[in-house]
Amino acid sequence: MRIGTLGSGLMTAALVPHWIAAGHEVLVGGRDTAHAQELGKRLEVEHGSLADAADFGEVVLLAIRSEGLADCMEQAGAARGTLSGSVIIDCGNAVHLGDFSQVRWDGRSLAEQAEFLAQGGRVVKAFNTCHYEVWAAARTYGGSPLRVPYCGSEPAKETVRELITQVGTDPLDVGDLSQARHLEALGILMIRALVGGAPALSAFNLVTADA
Ligand SMILES: NC(=O)c1ccc[n+]([C@@H]2O[C@H](COP(=O)([O-])OP(=O)(O)OC[C@H]3O[C@@H](n4cnc5c(N)ncnc54)[C@H](OP(=O)(O)O)[C@@H]3O)[C@@H](O)[C@H]2O)c1
Repeated sequence: MRIGTLGSGLMTAALVPHWIAAGHEVLVGGRDTAHAQELGKRLEVEHGSLADAADFGEVVLLAIRSEGLADCMEQAGAARGTLSGSVIIDCGNAVHLGDFSQVRWDGRSLAEQAEFLAQGGRVVKAFNTCHYEVWAAARTYGGSPLRVPYCGSEPAKETVRELITQVGTDPLDVGDLSQARHLEALGILMIRALVGGAPALSAFNLVTADA
């Protein structure tokens, strides 16, 4: 598949290598094309603007700071239909750097706002509930891969299930995009735990009793 990234930061750098290794073509897109170029060179893939990434990707990873969502969608050309028909993976959390207690809430999740702005693109929420280092390498938790909750509509979710597996984690379907607000709330709880001193590789997981 062709995967374009809206954002060239830590989450993109953590997730994309798994997908390159799985044989997908990637174009790293950034508002600041120098950042995108730097990451693209490091990963040995193409780079470009946000609009280039939107045009390129059948799947688009949306990995930007939440306050930039509307700007990012505008720069990606969503109003011209560049994302219509795309599967968009949103890993965002509604936090502002420097003040992790400031949560923006207007009744819709970031993911639903993104789907509204994407004008025909289908958003699947995933990967927002752990620190980027969790995604950077396949790991086990209690001897098993981490369960990654994700939500959205089919058939977009089918595509994302495969991509979650390729990160070395197990997909956990939690419903349609209306559930994204709960994943975003879980993301905020994780950030609070991390800020409170929890190790970077911490995760909320789905576990069952031993017997
Ligand atoms: N870091 C984590 O551990 C982690 C874990 C789970 C979820 N998340 C969420 O994932 C998302 C990305 O996080 P990250 O850690 O990858 O962030 P990051 O390393 O700080 O990178 C942020 C990216 O957002 C872009 N950006 C910032 N403002 C923008 C705007 N107004 N318009 C377009 N792009 C803009 C930056 O572009 P420039 O390069 O041009 O500045 C950069 O590419 C965030 O919503 C974050 O809450 C992060």
